[in-house]
Amino acid sequence: MSSNIHTEFHRFLSRNDKESILQQRGIVVWLCGLSGSGKSTIANAAERVLFQQGRFSTILDGDNIRAGLNANLSFSDDDRLENIRRIAEVAKLFAQQGIIVFVSAITPRGELRDVARGILGDDFFEVYVKASFAACEQRDVKGLYAKAARGEVANFTGKDSSFEEPQQSDLVLDTENDALEESVDQLLMAIGGKIRPQEE
Ligand code: ADX
Repeated sequence: MSSNIHTEFHRFLSRNDKESILQQRGIVVWLCGLSGSGKSTIANAAERVLFQQGRFSTILDGDNIRAGLNANLSFSDDDRLENIRRIAEVAKLFAQQGIIVFVSAITPRGELRDVARGILGDDFFEVYVKASFAACEQRDVKGLYAKAARGEVANFTGKDSSFEEPQQSDLVLDTENDALEESVDQLLMAIGGKIRPQEE
C-alpha cells in the first residue's frame, strides 16, 4: 500500500455496530464452478429464502459485474485474476457492513480462489457447485457451450481455458444429482450458524 494512503477505519462505526442493527453476521458465500453449473440459480433461491427470514443479503454475479465494474476485463488468465480480486474486494466491503454476500463466479483456478480467500479471510466460505462439463454442455442455458464448440468463444472455461476442481471447499453442492431445493437446504444449513447474530 502506498505510504501516502492513511486508512480511516478506526474512526468509523464498527462492523459489530452494523451487525447489531441487522441482527445477523456478514459472510461471503463464494460459489465457484463451471458456467451453467447452477451458481446463480442457487444464489438466487437461497437469497429468497433468507429474505423471507428477514435476512439482508446481496448477490455479486460474475456476468452482472462484468457488465459494469469489470466491463474492461477479458477472459485471459490475468483478467480473470483481476476480476476475482475486484469481486472479492467489493464482497469484503459488503460483508464488513454485516451483509450476507453470495458471489457467483466461475473462479476456475486454485490461485484465484486463494486470492479471494486471502482478501476475505474468515469471511470466505467456499462452495463448489459441482457439475461436469458434459452436464453443463447438455443444459447450455445461455447457448455458450454450443458457441464454444463452433469455436466462437475464446478462452472458454473447461475447453481452452482450464478449470481446476476445488479441493478444499467448505461445501460441495452436486447439481447433477441433487434437486435445486436440496442444494439450497444444504447451503443454508451450512451457513446457518455463521450468520446468526452474536449473543448480546
Ligand atoms: S471468471 O472465470 O472470471 O470467474 P465469471 O464468473 O466472471 O468468470 O464470468 C463467467 C460468465 O461469463 C459465464 O457464466 C458466461 O456467461 C460468460 N462468459 C463469456 N465468455 C466466457 C468464457 N470464455 N469462459 C467462461 N465464461 C464466459
